[in-house]
Amino acid sequence: MAMLLIKNIGMLATAKGNEPLRGPAQHEGVEIRRGCAVLLNGDTIQGVYDNASAPDCDNVIDAGGRLVTAGLIDAHTHLIFGGWRQHEVPLKLRGASYLEILQAGGGILNTLVATRNASEDELYDRAVSALSEMRDHGITTVEAKSGYGLDEQNELKQLRVIRRLKEEGGFNVVPTFMAAHAVPPEYKGDPDGYIEYVCTKILPKVADEELCEFVDVFCETGVFDVEQSRKMLTYGQAYGFKVKIHADEIDAIGGSKLAGEIGAVSAEHLIAIDEEGISSMAKGGTIACLLPGTSLYLNKEFAPARRMIEAGVPVAVCTDFNPGSCPSNDLQLCMNLGYLKYRMTPEEVLSAVTINAACAIGRGDSLGTVEPGKQADLVIWAAEDIDYLVYRMGTNKAKTVIVKGEIIK
Ligand code: NIG
Ligand code: FE
Repeated sequence: MAMLLIKNIGMLATAKGNEPLRGPAQHEGVEIRRGCAVLLNGDTIQGVYDNASAPDCDNVIDAGGRLVTAGLIDAHTHLIFGGWRQHEVPLKLRGASYLEILQAGGGILNTLVATRNASEDELYDRAVSALSEMRDHGITTVEAKSGYGLDEQNELKQLRVIRRLKEEGGFNVVPTFMAAHAVPPEYKGDPDGYIEYVCTKILPKVADEELCEFVDVFCETGVFDVEQSRKMLTYGQAYGFKVKIHADEIDAIGGSKLAGEIGAVSAEHLIAIDEEGISSMAKGGTIACLLPGTSLYLNKEFAPARRMIEAGVPVAVCTDFNPGSCPSNDLQLCMNLGYLKYRMTPEEVLSAVTINAACAIGRGDSLGTVEPGKQADLVIWAAEDIDYLVYRMGTNKAKTVIVKGEIIK
């Protein structure tokens, strides 16, 4: 195993441990260490030392006094899709809402056609190019959902692309099965019938081929109600999968409350969350995956991150990268928005895109901190501290990116 020493780190900023940080710990749990070095042993972090006591090593990178953090983790993306939806923006700007566009057969249903028409190879190539952009920005692990196939053949096609990204592409990708993303034309007006089909026909195949780790559902007015969502997620849990839920994005119909009740690992969006939802999530230990790029793009409110942190809900910040509500995979921009719009501290933002994001995808034990034994995913930033990282906007600040001990940028 090749050893690699990163020396002369100006500031190492990292959380500790394998658990999500919540409440005051989301800020206080980030340790700042100055003048240090990190030794990597192959794909694993070996140790952290003061510069003066760093071991000798044949392979050395000089961090030049810069900031080093764990690799960023994007815990919520809809990475696998055909086509784009730039033609919907003028409709939106003329006042059509997200749900109006969806109900008129656009939105997710538009991407459904392009995704069904795309071959597995095309979807793979597009995902590789998005993941390469993301790595270039310091994102070393990405969660990816299906949910634009909406039938057996095409949902499995999306999930097989994700498997190939891991096995062939060497990307750290965590798969989520989200056939319950919209009601497809074949089941128009019959969401119950569609959920039954997904639970009894597609999910068993997904389980047979071990194609996902999480199951997700879009719990929203005009999409799937709380009972349909409960059924989808309960089936997922019965097959041994962990669950997530798109909840309270537009209306608080009870999705976040359900998340806490059934022990969902995370609930996503939460723009419209109410106090009942917040306390249910705090009680259930559910992580809030907040998506500020989507608020920006849909011209909506920003989720009440401070209220959630104060109530003891661990907060993660993710892109929601998809062709409709957030056609951006720039997690650095989301960090800026987390700082400015959620009013999170730089430390809270860092936990949100490292340890809390790792826990939101079931990787708290191997990712999200710079500690011995964790996977050697690190970023050397063109920044001297984390304040600068969340302050500079619209420019890529990742200088050197290391994935599993390998320098990929
Ligand atoms: O998380 N809200 C539901 N799903 C996605 C959007 C998908 C799309 O518009 O294509 C989201 O924002
Ligand atoms: Fe989403």
